[in-house]
Amino acid sequence: MTKIRAKVAGIQGYVPPYILTNKELESMVDTSDEWILTRTGIRERHILKGEGMGTSDMAAEAVKGLLEKTGTKPEEIELVICATVTPDMLFPATANIICDKAGIRNAFSYDLGAACSGFLYALVTGTKFIESGAHKKVIVVGADKMSSITDYTSRETCVLFGDGCGAVLLEPTTEEFGIMDSILRADGSGRNHLHMKAGGSLKPPSHETVDAKEHFVYQEGQPVFKFAVTRMADVSVEIMERNNLKSEDVAWLVPHQANLRIIDATARRMGVGNDKVMINIDRYGNTTSGTIPLCLWDWEKQLKKGDNLILAAFGGGFTWGAVWLKWAL
Ligand code: ACO
Repeated sequence: MTKIRAKVAGIQGYVPPYILTNKELESMVDTSDEWILTRTGIRERHILKGEGMGTSDMAAEAVKGLLEKTGTKPEEIELVICATVTPDMLFPATANIICDKAGIRNAFSYDLGAACSGFLYALVTGTKFIESGAHKKVIVVGADKMSSITDYTSRETCVLFGDGCGAVLLEPTTEEFGIMDSILRADGSGRNHLHMKAGGSLKPPSHETVDAKEHFVYQEGQPVFKFAVTRMADVSVEIMERNNLKSEDVAWLVPHQANLRIIDATARRMGVGNDKVMINIDRYGNTTSGTIPLCLWDWEKQLKKGDNLILAAFGGGFTWGAVWLKWAL
């Protein structure tokens, strides 16, 4: 039987208009443009402003744009998966709310949480629904309003994150395009180094948790950095080796954008030159689930049909993974 693959049939991103620069952060915490730029590669990030604006508002913009761009009617969509760590609320799922805001009425939809690896987890999950023949039009969203869980009095974290999202439409193909292979991994023992302390069932919100600032990202930068550098490179090299892909076969590395130094280390291990690495961390910072689809959106015009892309991510959990995507557009 001919194998059905999932191809990316469209990509759309969204970032909110407000730009928070390193200069502005200098007036908020004891930091400098020079420190942020040399340690992370970030110059500025977008922030979603306004009462009553959540992750779903950004994601709905991306999804509506995606439907329009691909000439898809909302009623044709069968499944929407939203990767996020900043859902509008604990329930219902942000994916449900996105569907409502984008006019998608015939789909089932759910959220998936894998922190910065969320988009890759969701992409691979959506792919399985296509490969099985169960569904023909699946939207995968990576969206985060990180400003909602960022402590803007903590210089260790507030310089790192931004808000943004991206969405892809997955469709079946019997040609050799689309998601060709994937490796996903998790190690929950890493949770102590990167998490949000309160707000879940383990430690429900209280006056004390708010006073102790436990509803913000908690990150021990160095251990996370060490893990990220090795793990993201390990899976990227593994996926190349097991598919006999040489560095010259790779058109683009599409890495999660947490730190330019982690990206550089991954590219070096893969033997991929800087000119073949998508980097937009300077303009968006770390948008968690949003980084990889935002890269694809930014580079869309430069991508050619048949290009081999290696998507790679590392995030809280710990979670990490790599996907070999053959561009179909
Ligand atoms: N401005 C100025 N100084 C700062 C700042 C700042 N914004 N932040 C920290 N510093 C200081 C520290 O206090 C420390 O000072 P000290 O030496 O006097 O104690 C010094 O700079 C060095 O701090 P480190 O934490 O060692 O800095 P490091 O080089 O490790 O960079 C960073 C920190 C950028 C967070 C890095 O560790 C990193 O990128 N870690 C990995 C992040 C990641 O990949 N996360 C996963 C995805 S996120 C998710 O899943 C939600």
